[in-house]
Amino acid sequence: ALVVKHRMKCAGRWARAVAILRELEEKCAAPAAKLKQVADAMMVEMHAGLASEGGSKLKMIISFVDNLPTGDEDGLFYALDLGGTNFRVLRIQLGGRQGRVAKQEFEEVSIPPHLMVGSSHELFDYIASELAKFVSSEGEGFQLPAGRQRELGFTFSFPVRQTSISSGTLIKWTKGFSIEDTVGQDVVGELTKALERQGVDMRVSALVNDTIGTLAGGRYYDKDVSVAVILGTGTNAAYVERANAIPKWHGLLPKSGEMVINMEWGNFRSSHLPTTEYDNALDSESLNPGEQIYEKLISGMYLGEIVRRVLLKMATEATLFGDKIPPKLEIPFILRYISSTSLKTRKLVVEVCDVVAKRGARLAAAGVAGVLKKLGRDVAPKDGSELQRTVVAMDGGLFEHYTIFSECLESTLKGLLGEEVSSAISIVHANDGSGLGAALLAASHSQYLGES
Ligand code: GLC
Repeated sequence: ALVVKHRMKCAGRWARAVAILRELEEKCAAPAAKLKQVADAMMVEMHAGLASEGGSKLKMIISFVDNLPTGDEDGLFYALDLGGTNFRVLRIQLGGRQGRVAKQEFEEVSIPPHLMVGSSHELFDYIASELAKFVSSEGEGFQLPAGRQRELGFTFSFPVRQTSISSGTLIKWTKGFSIEDTVGQDVVGELTKALERQGVDMRVSALVNDTIGTLAGGRYYDKDVSVAVILGTGTNAAYVERANAIPKWHGLLPKSGEMVINMEWGNFRSSHLPTTEYDNALDSESLNPGEQIYEKLISGMYLGEIVRRVLLKMATEATLFGDKIPPKLEIPFILRYISSTSLKTRKLVVEVCDVVAKRGARLAAAGVAGVLKKLGRDVAPKDGSELQRTVVAMDGGLFEHYTIFSECLESTLKGLLGEEVSSAISIVHANDGSGLGAALLAASHSQYLGES
């Protein structure tokens, strides 16, 4: 009798765990009809954000990049990429049209977590000192003409109000960074001062978001790249807009007639987004409640944390991992990227991961569809002319390493656009395009431009 009772109890608990999974699935469902509403809402917000400053949750930041790399860039340039859990330093010898990337070297350094929530001074000093070390190791194959200052492209992957191609103030931190005294400051000024303190003689020639860097890096290899998407710790997109489609731009009309826009789409939100109790709790307990809602449904920093919350509920209400709740499961952000127990339990855990990842991938696809729609590239031209080829450059650990995610994104986008239009759209992986892109933009905005 005891055995029977035990079995019934187990079956009851298992049923509870499965019920939690089914409910999650239901709440995370993002069928095509819903995704189309999300894409439409994205497009509407893009228009609003371009119309006026503060007109939308989408900041639609003017990057001051009105010319993308051509291939003619020449000389030695550095890049510094700060934005996630690591930062990278890079040097590159560009050889113009013939030589292209003659030589490059990079180093990746992880950021000690305490610096992400400490003081501005400390963070920038740390970065500058790592850069100083890197510069001092410059060897053969890199040439700086005599008497010239080294120049740097600074990829700073947070929302920045650009004031020129080489200056801008931090609007707010995202992705687990929270350093109050940097907000409102010119981040190039902060970096320049830190470089001086470290005795590095270097000029910041371009300040760019990682999406802008990726767009520039992508364009260097393929002239049809006009959209860039980052799917990593955070998520965001940039694209090439017609300058006269930006009502809030009061500057001179650029010669190219174009302007690259950093959407900051991570901050998008819409009543059409499928959200769950787990998302709501994650948001309200986060460093930035109410902000970056789209990012919190999609990006690498949060997917694992959503899963942890689901598993914790299963552990608590259905003793999924035995009578005791595994203590680690109660620690926020313990599951960085989603990666226990009986086979049955493990399969259930995998299902939870899939549901959460696929919702993210489908929502990201809807975002891309929204951007393409804004560009008028979501339908075949009515006059019967040929579809224009559009390349979307993507980068970030989530896109690069999580195959279920990237495959789901691509197939969802295809489904949303249909066969014909999809045949003109390619998604390419721009591997560390943002570092290269920043160096290229430093080159095209060099203080020595025109001198040989
Ligand atoms: C966050 C940042 C944004 C960046 C993105 C990807 O959304 O706010 O600037 O591009 O992460 O790194």
